[in-house]
Amino acid sequence: MLKILNIVGARPNFMKIAPIQREMQRRSSEFRPLIVHTGQHYDEAMSDSFFRDLGIPEPDYHLEIGSASHAVQTAKIMTAFEPVVLAQKPDWVLVVGDVNSTIACALVCSKLGVKIAHVEAGLRSRDRSMPEEINRILTDSISDLLLTTSPDADENLKAEGIPAQKIRFVGNVMIDSLLYNLENAKGLPTREGLGVNGTDYAVLTLHRPSNVDEPDVFGGLLAALSDISKRLPIIFPVHPRTRANIERFGFADRVAGSDIRLIDPLGYLDFMNLYSGARLVLTDSGGLQEETTALGIPCLTLRENTERPITIELGTNRLVGTDPDTIRAAANDVLDQDLTIETRIPPLWDGRAAERICDALVEASR
Ligand code: UD1
Repeated sequence: MLKILNIVGARPNFMKIAPIQREMQRRSSEFRPLIVHTGQHYDEAMSDSFFRDLGIPEPDYHLEIGSASHAVQTAKIMTAFEPVVLAQKPDWVLVVGDVNSTIACALVCSKLGVKIAHVEAGLRSRDRSMPEEINRILTDSISDLLLTTSPDADENLKAEGIPAQKIRFVGNVMIDSLLYNLENAKGLPTREGLGVNGTDYAVLTLHRPSNVDEPDVFGGLLAALSDISKRLPIIFPVHPRTRANIERFGFADRVAGSDIRLIDPLGYLDFMNLYSGARLVLTDSGGLQEETTALGIPCLTLRENTERPITIELGTNRLVGTDPDTIRAAANDVLDQDLTIETRIPPLWDGRAAERICDALVEASR
């Protein structure tokens, strides 16, 4: 029986842990999974509603860290997590993604000699100014089992000198959650509640510090988005960081003069209801690039790089950067096209990644 601590901290972690926890509970003769929530995200909208929507059990440990600078947040997670590991003596600690909770918990385990499994290993944007890129590189360098979503990730890891026997291509566990919840999400009245009809709307998310912390960049993005909203309304669930900056930079008026509709962050199922029906998605999120690829929805990524190149090679994603003219032109391209675009689902994005993750853990424990 393998005792596993499954770590969650921030919003993009919840939909990755949910299928893994469920599969481990199903295989109860092989696994004893416990959930540790660091509390990096803590709001009802950023955390609690995801536990409910995804059916994740109450955390066994809640570290209640909250927001702080990167150093303080990472240090507080480490200090609070170490006694949990010492008390539980797990066989594995499983971390997902690239947030501060991921590296903080992995680092604690590496010092205590506890084995680390990293889900979504090997993704690289090659942009070291992104905090997530540092988290990815460091977490991978100290993990014992590196579970990847795409073949390019395997190549990245091998190029960094990680032995092939530590790497397993298991597919995309986020797509497990998407496929598991899609029918249920489609049945919700979210779109009607927001007053959007058919597919004639776009969905926007923006929260990367590089996009929303610089007034020039953020202002340029809003100018382009405001023009695009003249062609179709843009529904914009606003991340707390972004909301604060709209106020700080005095951008509320710019938004008010457009058809960009600001709403509070949505829960997992409501957000799926919304984006799954959209004609176009504009985003700087990592996960949404993958979700739109899985559903064949055109996606414009408002960044200069992506750690998920497979969504461009096979899927519906296009990198458009932050230049307003390029963004306007790309959106017009999509909106002038026929609605159907040719897309291929990347290999092993089939809803069964959690099974393969569990198999890999069993095999790596022999
Ligand atoms: C974090 C992750 C990022 C991920 C994002 C998803 C890191 C380095 N970054 O960034 O990779 O894409 O989560 O959301 O781990 N806040 C609230 N309520 C909350 C959480 C945050 O109001 O529940 C506010 C706080 O003012 C906080 C700010 O949002 O200072 C930013 O939160 P933080 O966790 O520092 O980073 P994110 O930008 O959310």
